[in-house]
Amino acid sequence: MADNKKEIKKHYISRSESRRISKENSKAIAQFEKRKKRKVKPEEYVTQMKDDNNIVEFEDLHTFFFSDSGTVKAVNGVTFSVPAGSTVGVVGESGCGKSVTSLSLMQLVQAPSGQIVSGSIRFRADMFKLDEKGKKIPVYEKETGEDGQERIKLDEKGKPIIRKNELGGNMYEMERQVVDIAKMPTEAMRSIRGREIAMIFQEPMTSLNPVFTIGNQLDEVGKLHIQGISKQKVKERSIEMLQLVGIADPEGVYKKYPHELSGGMRQRVMIAIALLCNPKLIVADEPTTALDVTIQAQILDLLRDIKGKINGSIMLITHDLGVVAEMADYVVVMYAGKVIEMGTAEDIYDRPLHPYTIGLQKSKPTVDQEVDSLYCIPGFVPNPINMPNYCYFRDRCGKCMEKCSGEYPELIKVSDTHSVSCYLYEGQAEVKNG
Ligand SMILES: Nc1ncnc2c1ncn2[C@@H]1O[C@H](COP(=O)(O)OP(=O)(O)OP(=O)(O)O)[C@@H](O)[C@H]1O
Ligand code: SF4
Ligand SMILES: [Mg+2]
Repeated sequence: MADNKKEIKKHYISRSESRRISKENSKAIAQFEKRKKRKVKPEEYVTQMKDDNNIVEFEDLHTFFFSDSGTVKAVNGVTFSVPAGSTVGVVGESGCGKSVTSLSLMQLVQAPSGQIVSGSIRFRADMFKLDEKGKKIPVYEKETGEDGQERIKLDEKGKPIIRKNELGGNMYEMERQVVDIAKMPTEAMRSIRGREIAMIFQEPMTSLNPVFTIGNQLDEVGKLHIQGISKQKVKERSIEMLQLVGIADPEGVYKKYPHELSGGMRQRVMIAIALLCNPKLIVADEPTTALDVTIQAQILDLLRDIKGKINGSIMLITHDLGVVAEMADYVVVMYAGKVIEMGTAEDIYDRPLHPYTIGLQKSKPTVDQEVDSLYCIPGFVPNPINMPNYCYFRDRCGKCMEKCSGEYPELIKVSDTHSVSCYLYEGQAEVKNG
């Protein structure tokens, strides 16, 4: 009985302790918020890529939630890259930090409790060049005058005419820069979000506004990100995108409300919105979870097709290894806020190394084998508030050794493309797994 009481006590925190945590949180949050709001010079966030073939590089990213019961280390030192033109699948069970990683990339972590605490998210962006007043520099139409001199073309009101880009918006002087999104001010991030990186969420009904037509919502995004686009042009672009995502009657759907569409059509609309500004990177967070299997396959086909058309990259977040197998070039396996294994799709499928990845593979249903029940990895993910210092998988691992109770295992590179964080592979430069 006494022991029981002790056990129960362990799972609760006292009122005074909660007050202390809350006070510490307010202090930490105030500091992070102040840092975000201060005037930041571009030198502070303009950086260099480690590898020029990448479009995104996450390095030692830490994103925490400061809750009254303690600090949730949702993303706890994540490092991986998205090579340009590729699809990277991020897999792992519920709560392992997949969404928080992608929200950090978009600077959309729920503040004030959620904050990027440290680390970098380097992104290769086409940024607007700014004049000394901080304004964008337009590119004007030019003409040759009677005197043979080149000059800026004027409209009938005598105003200089700004050149139009391929989307029908105003053309501005741009420069290619590598920016660290983790250190970038919110204002500067606005020009990247939606235009350079677009996000598709799991449940389209929560992302679409029920009181506006599909056309309204598409046009609104177009007008926001393609400055100077005419009303006519924005409508044309919206309808073109609806067509591109395989909607049979784009003009009809343009006039409809979200509730008048099926789940699959709504997800297609979300993809159309994401594509409006020709983004370089699409982040798709469980884009097919809310859909039935046949529609899932169609949406995945569509994403694959579109990636080729826009010549962009995709970061695909899912807990479904089957989806990743079909789509991804590279796979990142996360567990409790950390990357525990990563490699090419073949590395992860044909030669999984980490006991957790092997468990995930075993728990995947297959059609060619008859089984009584599906394999289930025993145990639970440790409490994210009090993470142990040792391997987070230790208490569920069948291969656990004495060493595993020591420090958290580092990520070991076992081949050029394949890394794993597990003591079983310590000291192995390369392994051959048959
Ligand atoms: N707004 C929030 N406030 C507090 N904690 C949060 C918040 N959002 C996420 N978390 C915590 O962060 C951790 C990671 O959550 P995340 O949403 O990234 O998981 P996930 O891998 O996307 O899971 P799922 O597959 O269920 O979507 C979880 O422990 C979760 O409880
Ligand atoms: S480090 Fe040890 S406990 Fe952790 S996964 Fe590897 S073998 Fe298992
Ligand atoms: Mg999620």
